[in-house]
Amino acid sequence: MTSNTELRGIVYNGTNCYSSGMENSRKVVRTFTKQILQCVENLLEQDHKSSGTICIAEFGAADGGVSLELMVTLIDHINKFLDDLRDIIIVYEDQLFNDFNVLFKTVHATNSNMTNKLGDNVHVLASATSMYRKCVPFASVDLAFSSMANHWLSEKPCENRDGIFQTDCNNEDLKAFRHQWKTDWKQFLSCRAKELRQGGYLAVVSFVTDDNGRCNNHVGENSYQVFTSIWEEFQQCGKITQEEFLHTSSVTYHPTKAELVQPFQDDIKGCLTLVSCTQRDIEIFPDLPNNAGIEEKEMFIEKSIKCIKPWLYNILQSGLSKDRTEEDKAKIMQDYFRKLRNILAQKSEFCPVLYRTACVVAKRT
Ligand SMILES: C[S@@+](CC[C@H](N)C(=O)[O-])C[C@H]1O[C@@H](n2cnc3c(N)ncnc32)[C@H](O)[C@@H]1O
Repeated sequence: MTSNTELRGIVYNGTNCYSSGMENSRKVVRTFTKQILQCVENLLEQDHKSSGTICIAEFGAADGGVSLELMVTLIDHINKFLDDLRDIIIVYEDQLFNDFNVLFKTVHATNSNMTNKLGDNVHVLASATSMYRKCVPFASVDLAFSSMANHWLSEKPCENRDGIFQTDCNNEDLKAFRHQWKTDWKQFLSCRAKELRQGGYLAVVSFVTDDNGRCNNHVGENSYQVFTSIWEEFQQCGKITQEEFLHTSSVTYHPTKAELVQPFQDDIKGCLTLVSCTQRDIEIFPDLPNNAGIEEKEMFIEKSIKCIKPWLYNILQSGLSKDRTEEDKAKIMQDYFRKLRNILAQKSEFCPVLYRTACVVAKRT
């Protein structure tokens, strides 16, 4: 049996589209919108006399719904700034197994009651590749953007023998995950440097970790421990096999801020210049007061599960044996999230949910 690599990094939200539940990720993008707008303003000031097409590319876009608000803001800005209505191309990139059909429905707003806000001068294209390869032609992009995707590795460097997440890793496994991330990040930057036009900008919103390797606290300080312990319990009671437990790894590495900016000090020097790296701890939702009623608690739990399940579901499912039936897998996943819900329901304290993030802005020189 092998684990299912096709699910790696692919987001899941049941029958709903991914971004419909991701108000948390939209909040993260909103935090950095001003900085990204500034990149576009600089671009337009440099380039307002040319009549060429403007190209924005998003890497690891999922269904495009999280960044749509940002895209609409950027396009409005471009349309207002320039005298002529310029053609704008948006290239949405993600992995081959991403659901691009949902992406087109989302950005053209045919699967919601939002009207299409992109306008006739905006042309939406897609690239099903890997952000660790060159995805669009040489020197064709004005603004390259990515949000909450650069922690996904191009390949699993080794099994995480002690659990599922970075925080579970022993020193040796952690070293291998870190090494893979550093290689991938350099590769990502070098591909974007080739794709950007001279004077173009790159803006990457990334998770960053604290000294303990954590970048969020979905269910309190010990979130990842809780997620792993349920899976461990499933193994101990025979719901999943030992082999399945071993094959379940989040193929991710969350960098520190220093690791994010490191390549700009040497490798990428000369083609991408770091403009800024701004760190922000973002409150995804506030804590609950001690006297909160049952209904408020239920709502808090509902919101928490909504922003955990889309990324955790396939991490767990990818460890399950291919020999299992789809019904069997679905039942295990249902039991897992029911158990998580029960653990949350027993909590007496609900701290604010925080994401530690940073936005790297760089210019193609
Ligand atoms: C957590 S989601 C983030 C989606 C969206 N950008 C947001 O801000 O919510 C991570 C996305 O990265 C994509 N991804 C992971 N590895 C990738 C790769 N090698 N190339 C392109 N996309 C990748 C996944 O398919 C997924 O859509």
